[in-house]
Amino acid sequence: MKIGLLHSLIRKDEKFLIDEFKTVKGLELVMIDDREITFNLGKNKFDLDAVVERSINHSRALHGLRLFESAGIKCVNSYNVATICGDKLLTSCALAEKNVPQPEVRVAFTEESALKAIEEMGYPVVLKPAVGSWGRLLSKVNDKDAAEAILEHKTVLGSYHHSIFYIQKYVEKKGKDIRSFVVGDKCIAAIYRTSPHWITNTARGGVATNCVVTDELNDISVRAAKAVGGGIVAIDVFESSDGLMVNEVNYTMEYKNSISTTGVNIPQKMVEFVLQVAEGRKP
Ligand SMILES: Nc1ncnc2c1ncn2[C@@H]1O[C@H](COP(=O)(O)OP(=O)(O)O)[C@@H](O)[C@H]1O
Ligand SMILES: [Mg+2]
Repeated sequence: MKIGLLHSLIRKDEKFLIDEFKTVKGLELVMIDDREITFNLGKNKFDLDAVVERSINHSRALHGLRLFESAGIKCVNSYNVATICGDKLLTSCALAEKNVPQPEVRVAFTEESALKAIEEMGYPVVLKPAVGSWGRLLSKVNDKDAAEAILEHKTVLGSYHHSIFYIQKYVEKKGKDIRSFVVGDKCIAAIYRTSPHWITNTARGGVATNCVVTDELNDISVRAAKAVGGGIVAIDVFESSDGLMVNEVNYTMEYKNSISTTGVNIPQKMVEFVLQVAEGRKP
């Protein structure tokens, strides 16, 4: 069995995964550095049973997956899953199509129509770039003055990615949200991320504590994972006054702070799943 690991810098998350792969008898792990690999379209004959994608850069991940799949290699996650999860608008569509609860979302293409949508939704709202992560460039908009300013800044200073306005209702979440980890058909672990700031990402200082996986949390997490195509994903969940709702789904999940916090050997579960995919036991 030969598994390829597409990577950039080796972070702790990758290190844990590599160590786990090394415990599997008869498995050869092939390191594929996204800074070195070149693809030869239609001519690549990769001698691999599957590829695990762990690139830091979304664009390299996405295109790498497309190219490996084009060469007939099974990938975790799939190109399709990465495409949907890498774009909050596509994720919201996928969740809505499967009736997975999420905060109210509106999309607009101009400053004027965006402002109209925001005024209809009522404050506060959150404006996000559809493509982005680690809590960057999110704006919580509390009033019309702020809305006008943010929309103008996005229009004048923003790159192509800011030309579509993804507007989400702000959800009161009492200082914390949930990050749940789904591998295949199961939510294997979850953490709370608590922060005095409304952005709770651990990359932005949110503190991780264990969160018990209730049936309800397992259910919404697995439904969200399936809605985007399944695999190994991490879900941001809000505990709102209207029950659990899914904020977003992440496809190159980071879990290094969550192993000791939850007591779950997350990389081991990931490796088990990759082996199932490689052996054709999972679609
Ligand atoms: N609509 C919202 N209501 C309340 N908090 C939000 C909302 N959207 C984002 N947040 C906070 O900001 C964090 C980052 O937002 P998210 O959409 O997950 O973007 P990223 O891809 O950067 O992680 C969330 O984990 C949450 O703490
Ligand atoms: Mg997030």
